[in-house]
Amino acid sequence: MTTPNPESSAIVIGATGGVGAALAEALEMSRAHETVYRFGRSASGADHLDFEDEASIVAAAERVRAGAAPTLILIATGVLHSGQEPERTYKAMTAEHLLRDYRINTIGPALVMKHFAPLMPRDRRATFAALSARVGSIGDNRLGGWHSYRASKAALNMLLRNLALELGRSHPQAVVAGLHPGTVDTGLSRPFQKGVAEGKLFAPAYSAERLLAVLDGLTPADSGGVFAWDGARIPE
Ligand SMILES: NC(=O)c1ccc[n+]([C@@H]2O[C@H](COP(=O)([O-])OP(=O)(O)OC[C@H]3O[C@@H](n4cnc5c(N)ncnc54)[C@H](OP(=O)(O)O)[C@@H]3O)[C@@H](O)[C@H]2O)c1
Repeated sequence: MTTPNPESSAIVIGATGGVGAALAEALEMSRAHETVYRFGRSASGADHLDFEDEASIVAAAERVRAGAAPTLILIATGVLHSGQEPERTYKAMTAEHLLRDYRINTIGPALVMKHFAPLMPRDRRATFAALSARVGSIGDNRLGGWHSYRASKAALNMLLRNLALELGRSHPQAVVAGLHPGTVDTGLSRPFQKGVAEGKLFAPAYSAERLLAVLDGLTPADSGGVFAWDGARIPE
């Protein structure tokens, strides 16, 4: 059994979600950190943090600031459908849908960067990662559709690259990454699981274990990239 590092904490934002809960559980099992903070919008087993209320993000960061420095910050939040089906055509785009996806998939993580990245230690390795999606890649897009979701994830990837560049100057050992978890059996993917090939629908625990292994293998030279569950770098 690994002895918890008394000088480090890990943070999972979106710990109420399918992948987020599995990430928090895997981190707790690994005992690599003194504390694993779970933040989530709904109440179930996590401290409250809602992207639509910046004060709740500030309060969460203050809680972390009082303890050991975070060497791992994971954002596992996201929205795909929930009341607004992903668009099949540009003709279906609405300002409301675009804004909703930007608010949750892009602006929320941006505010987490603003309030949590300053807590990362400068003198040792520390990782900041957000769950993105392969469909957020512009270079990899050969199918189209899902306009709001794709655009919000592409914008998230840009913010991660920006953070990597800026942190690279002050935190030479920092790693910033976007992650594609594969197609995972959660509420987010449930309406879209029909066409998934046999063996390609992952259990959240499997995806979480893969993602933590991928992060472990990244170096500061990889910072700013987006990586899939199998370690492959996804084109911009
Ligand atoms: N599942 C897949 O196949 C798949 C594939 C590619 C990428 N991803 C990405 O992986 C990430 C995790 O997805 P998942 O499958 O675990 O989805 P999920 O089970 O639906 O979880 C989504 C999480 O986002 C949180 N959230 C939503 N709105 C929020 C807000 N306003 N403020 C704070 N938190 C908010 C939810 O909180 P509450 O439940 O508490 O409301 C929940 O914790 C997402 O970024 C998704 O885009 C997933």
